[in-house]
Amino acid sequence: MQTTPPLTALTDATTVWLDGELQAEASVAVHGLTHALHYGSSVFEGIRLYPTPRGPAIFRLQDHIARLYRGARTYGLEMPYGEERFCEIVAEVAKISRRDAAYIRPLAFFGGDTVRLAPAHVCETRVLVAVLPFSGLIKGEEAPRCAATVSPIMKTPSAALPSWVKAGGHYTNSILALADALARGFDEAILLNDRGNVAEGSGENIFVISGGTLITNDGGSDILEGITRGSVLEIARELGIPTSVRTLTRDDLATCDEAFFTGTAAEVVPIVRIDDRIMSEERPITDRLRTTYSDVVRGNRPAPGNWLTYIS
Ligand SMILES: Cc1ncc(COP(=O)(O)O)c(C=O)c1O
Repeated sequence: MQTTPPLTALTDATTVWLDGELQAEASVAVHGLTHALHYGSSVFEGIRLYPTPRGPAIFRLQDHIARLYRGARTYGLEMPYGEERFCEIVAEVAKISRRDAAYIRPLAFFGGDTVRLAPAHVCETRVLVAVLPFSGLIKGEEAPRCAATVSPIMKTPSAALPSWVKAGGHYTNSILALADALARGFDEAILLNDRGNVAEGSGENIFVISGGTLITNDGGSDILEGITRGSVLEIARELGIPTSVRTLTRDDLATCDEAFFTGTAAEVVPIVRIDDRIMSEERPITDRLRTTYSDVVRGNRPAPGNWLTYIS
C-alpha cells in the first residue's frame, strides 16, 4: 500500500478525497456545467467500515469496487486507476478518517464542461471518495424494522437503464418511489417491474421466507444484485437454510411467512408490514440471518469468504 500525505486540519466530520487530493473541507468546488450534475452520469458505491476485534475492516471492498468498475465501463467513464490501486486508495482514505465505523462513498463522474449528452472524450472522469460517520446499531438499541408499501412507481426496466449499474441518474426512480412511500406513512417502497413482479426496495433487495425456504429474485427482475443479498444467500447456505432464487410475485408478498430487506446501510431489516398486511412478530429465519450477518461483518464470526479488508 502506498503512503498518503498526513492529514491536516479536517474541519468537517466527513473526510473527502477528490482526484488524488485529500480535501481540507468536505465541500468541494465543481464546474457549473459538470455533466453528472445535469444528467446523472456518475457511478458510485456504498461500503461499510466496521469495528472488529482485529481493528477496523472494510466489508467486501473488492466486490464493491468491481461493481463500480463494471458500471464505469457501461457508461464509458475511464477510471484513472486500476481496480486494485483504487481499493488501496479507498482503504487509505478510510484509514485517514481515523474512524472504526463509517460509510464509504466512492463516486466516479463526468466533469465539465458541456451541455451535450455525449460526454466521452469531452468530459474528464473525476473520482471522489467520501468517508462519513456511520455507527449503525448501538448495542441494546432496538433492531430496525420497516413498514413497506407496494409502489405505484414502476421500477425502470433494465432494457432502459441497466439495473446492475449503480449509476447516479438511475436513482431518480428510487427517489420518486421513496417520496411516495414516506408521504403515505410508510418507511420504504417495494417497486414492481414492468411485468408486475416484485423488483426491489428503493435502495435494498428483498427476500421472503415461505415454508422454511428463503427466496429472492435476481437480475432478471430488474434489480441491482446487492452485495448484502449475495452475502445473505451464502450465509443461509452455510446455516443449512434452503434457498431459492426465482421471480417474486405480489402473491409472494401476500402469502409469505417472513420478509426482509437487505442493503449495505440497512444490513438485514425485517419488514413488519406490507400495505394492509401486518406480518407476524415471529421471524425465526430473519432473526437468525440478521444476527449472523451482523456477527460476520463485525468479525465476530468467520465469513464464508475473504470478506474483510483490515485497514490498520
Ligand atoms: C437499488 C438498490 N438495490 C439494492 C441495493 C443493495 O445493494 P448492496 O447490498 O450492495 O448495498 C442497493 C444499495 O445500494 C440499491 O441502491
